[in-house]
Amino acid sequence: MSLDLSNYDDTYTEELECQRSRLSRYLWHITQLTIRSFPVIPGKLYPKILKLFRTKVGKNVIIRPNVNILYPFNLEVGDNSRIEAECFLGCCAPVKIGRNVSIAPRTMIMNCTHRPFDPKFTAMADPTTIEDGVWVGCHCTILGGVTIHQGAVVAAGSVVNKDVPPFTLVAGVPAKPIKRFDPRKKEIIDLHVAV
Ligand SMILES: CC(C)(COP(=O)(O)OP(=O)(O)OC[C@H]1O[C@@H](n2cnc3c(N)ncnc32)[C@H](O)[C@@H]1OP(=O)(O)O)[C@@H](O)C(=O)NCCC(=O)NCCS
Repeated sequence: MSLDLSNYDDTYTEELECQRSRLSRYLWHITQLTIRSFPVIPGKLYPKILKLFRTKVGKNVIIRPNVNILYPFNLEVGDNSRIEAECFLGCCAPVKIGRNVSIAPRTMIMNCTHRPFDPKFTAMADPTTIEDGVWVGCHCTILGGVTIHQGAVVAAGSVVNKDVPPFTLVAGVPAKPIKRFDPRKKEIIDLHVAV
């Protein structure tokens, strides 16, 4: 049987919806629409507003005003991290971004999904973690249940559907290890086979 969306309830999971009242969600949507309509708002102001909606934000964080965030109370961003223009953070389950993380423009964190071929299209969500010192290139997609470990790099346009080991450069769809940095020896090891 294929999808039947005639009675689809797009409120993600009941558990998620219970965490915040309908009123606070409407308030967030209105606030976010206002922020996104003023792209001149400094990147340091958005984190301050997010704190009012229970986002855990560290010091010196920059989030560009046109970053779209679903469920801000599920987001945590550590000191000195930067989320650049037009990223989409669909925080249906917790999204934990560590310290000194750089997320380049148009990257999407999407940790909600559905079981393939489930006619009810039931929504499920798993946490996403990006550890300290990670650089995520532009136009990447990072899925739920994934941890990008400390010091890793995600090349532009990659889809990350599995954990990324520390100090590893991954690239492609799905993202695969290309290089590894040994922080002790300070040397880069090439892992990829050129095609
Ligand atoms: C990953 C990156 C930094 C290059 O790193 P590098 O160490 O110089 O990598 P190399 O150029 O030596 O490439 C190594 C291999 O990875 C491949 N590769 C590099 N970037 C890739 C990408 N984005 N997607 C797929 N493969 C990629 C290369 O083609 C090469 O494989 P090949 O020899 O088979 O062709 C760069 O490609 C990139 O993605 N930069 C991000 C740009 C960006 O988002 N900027 C926003 C500013 S914050």
